[in-house]
Amino acid sequence: MSRYFKYKTAEDLVAGARELGQEIAVADSVEPLFQPLNIGGRTVGNRLVIHPMEGCDGTLDGLPGELTYRRYQRFGAGGAKLIWGEATAVWEEGRANSRQLLLADHTLAALERMLTECRQAHRAAGNNDGDLLVGLQLTHSGRYAFRKPILATHDPLLDPLTQDKSTGRVVDASYPLISDSDLERLIDRFVEAARLVYGLGYDFVDIKQCHRYLLSELLAAKNRPGPFGGSYENRTRLIREVVQRIRAEFPDKLIATRMNAYDGIPYRAMAETRIGTPVIHEPPLVCAWGTSALDHTLEDLEEPIRLVRDLARWGVGLINITLGNPYSNPHIGRPADYPPVDGYLPPEHPLLGVARHFRIAHALQAAVPEVTLVGTGYSWLQEFAGHVAAANVGTGRIALAGFGRATLSHPDFAQALRDEGRFQRKKVCRTFSYCTGLMRAKDHPLGQYETGCPPFDKEVYGPVWKEVEAKRGDAT
Ligand SMILES: Cc1cc2nc3c(=O)[nH]c(=O)nc-3n(C[C@H](O)[C@H](O)[C@H](O)COP(=O)(O)O)c2cc1C
Repeated sequence: MSRYFKYKTAEDLVAGARELGQEIAVADSVEPLFQPLNIGGRTVGNRLVIHPMEGCDGTLDGLPGELTYRRYQRFGAGGAKLIWGEATAVWEEGRANSRQLLLADHTLAALERMLTECRQAHRAAGNNDGDLLVGLQLTHSGRYAFRKPILATHDPLLDPLTQDKSTGRVVDASYPLISDSDLERLIDRFVEAARLVYGLGYDFVDIKQCHRYLLSELLAAKNRPGPFGGSYENRTRLIREVVQRIRAEFPDKLIATRMNAYDGIPYRAMAETRIGTPVIHEPPLVCAWGTSALDHTLEDLEEPIRLVRDLARWGVGLINITLGNPYSNPHIGRPADYPPVDGYLPPEHPLLGVARHFRIAHALQAAVPEVTLVGTGYSWLQEFAGHVAAANVGTGRIALAGFGRATLSHPDFAQALRDEGRFQRKKVCRTFSYCTGLMRAKDHPLGQYETGCPPFDKEVYGPVWKEVEAKRGDAT
């Protein structure tokens, strides 16, 4: 039984949103999603995007595993025309988990195979792949690097929640920040990584600056001393230099970025109710990008709008807008009826979270209409997600609609929308958070469980979930 999602019809959903003071539009037809779009001289055949969705199913040395290949075959066959390849670390020490993909000499051929199989599957399902764009997300996980946290700055609210697993100690003011010279080296590495990824045939690279990984934390690093902290110019120095250098070397290639437009602050579960509550803090906030310094619940989009405008000027053609921090405030980025095991019960109606995604993405798209934006936050809308996306795209509130969790249960959602005008009911993601639960589960011999959709991709992930539950049972 869903806790919050009780809508039987589109009218119920619209009325439910109104009761919460929100306007959510639902289109009668999904036709607007099937209008092609020109992005930087390339045509993308429809407006449906598969968000980057890492499966944590690579090998210990960063190669895709069999489940990784399977995922991109399923995504390719599924009919969405923009496939945003998952988080792939540019440096070993920047990997978020032991099975995250890594961009390195020894992984290039495998990353090429992932792309080739994705395109082949698209064609084998009867699609033309001339209007399919496939990219790869390049990342450094910074504070969330699994071997050792690498901080861009000292965030007074995140530091107490950050543990250096190599010593078991919680990070404090004595913990060193990544040096300016390492950030200079990282600029070189991102440019080199883009060169490699374009060389493999990917249509775009995403320089990831979201979810409070390293580049996202830099955007918020108002209290970092030196050339990469403090002023807006300094905090955006790294992304500016990376983009400008890639643009100079590859004048015709598509550069993308996935960026946070609002960080918010950490939440924790209240002892008795398990309902999420913001951590105790004293405004003004020191480092929360896109967030009002005096009231963390409010977005302040002045800098995010400025950055979107600057990115477009520097040469970025595609921006995927997202929010929050999956570790410290998961309800912001992934509105869900059921929280992940290590999370908390929703502190707000998930539809308010969805509406926040839409409101912020629309504000950015309206402020900078010349750049193509991808919106996030659709999966919680379950069977109505396609029709809500059609309303947002059809009215120009956003150029493209991205789907995350929904693609694990229903990788062929685009084909279903195209052929049947709706999702297939039995594949609709119900936001149970099993996928996040698998990511957070401990005690896998390789250090990390692979993730997917246990209820709706049962044959593969059902047994994995059972194993996690059995271990949890043993432990308690
Ligand atoms: C299992 C899983 C893996 C994810 N992997 C990535 C990733 O590699 N990069 C990224 O930017 N976001 C990642 N995300 C976030 C999603 O792309 C997306 O922003 C989020 O799920 C909200 O969209 P939705 O409501 O459609 O699910 C991941 C989310 C989940 C649940």
